[in-house]
Amino acid sequence: MLISTWEWIRLFGFLAYFYFTISVIFGLLRKSSFVKAHKNLIYHIHQNAGWLGLVTVIGHMLVLIIDHYEPFNLGEILIPFSAEYESLPSALGTIAFYLFLMVIMSSDLWMRTMNRSLWKKLHFLVLPAWVLSLAHGVLIGTDSENTFVIMFYVASGGGILLILMVRTISQLKNKGNISTSHNH
Ligand code: HEM
Repeated sequence: MLISTWEWIRLFGFLAYFYFTISVIFGLLRKSSFVKAHKNLIYHIHQNAGWLGLVTVIGHMLVLIIDHYEPFNLGEILIPFSAEYESLPSALGTIAFYLFLMVIMSSDLWMRTMNRSLWKKLHFLVLPAWVLSLAHGVLIGTDSENTFVIMFYVASGGGILLILMVRTISQLKNKGNISTSHNH
């Protein structure tokens, strides 16, 4: 094989983190006024990147089971804090996986049958899930000292923070406009 199973694990891990980041960014952008013209495209990218993230993270977990260098069994992957290798960072990955899984399942499979405000609350669990996946990658990472990888984490983290700030400011502004228009 061209690359070892341990390298496949890291490749799938980075891909999963990349896709989830893209999905979160495009999800946060959906309400922004200057991209309203491309609403459908943004929605498709948001949804497909989420699914690609889920598929690649399952690949990440499957290769961990096949790998013999630092063997994981199914229980260690699925039960937080049961892994012998890097117990805390591994647990953060497992919890992030469950949160992403719940958000994607509730959106694509159960959304029509679910109460909308409950769905929305569940959907915002994606933010702690994303933070946990970033902490998992940074803490467990063989590659966390690689300049390129650090730039990747800083750019993705900074991007999400920036969009969250812009979104919050524009929401506050909208609320301000509504209450001043009510006062007139
Ligand atoms: C949403 C879920 C997950 C994401 C986004 C994710 C992401 C990542 C990333 C980006 C890396 C590369 C770190 C590096 O090489 O510097 C990585 C490595 C790793 N992950 Fe995950 N992961 C997730 C779930 C899991 C789960 C559930 C486990 C198992 C309990 C796990 C175990 C590992 C291990 C053992 C490594 C190898 C670390 C190394 O190269 O030293 N991950 N993961």
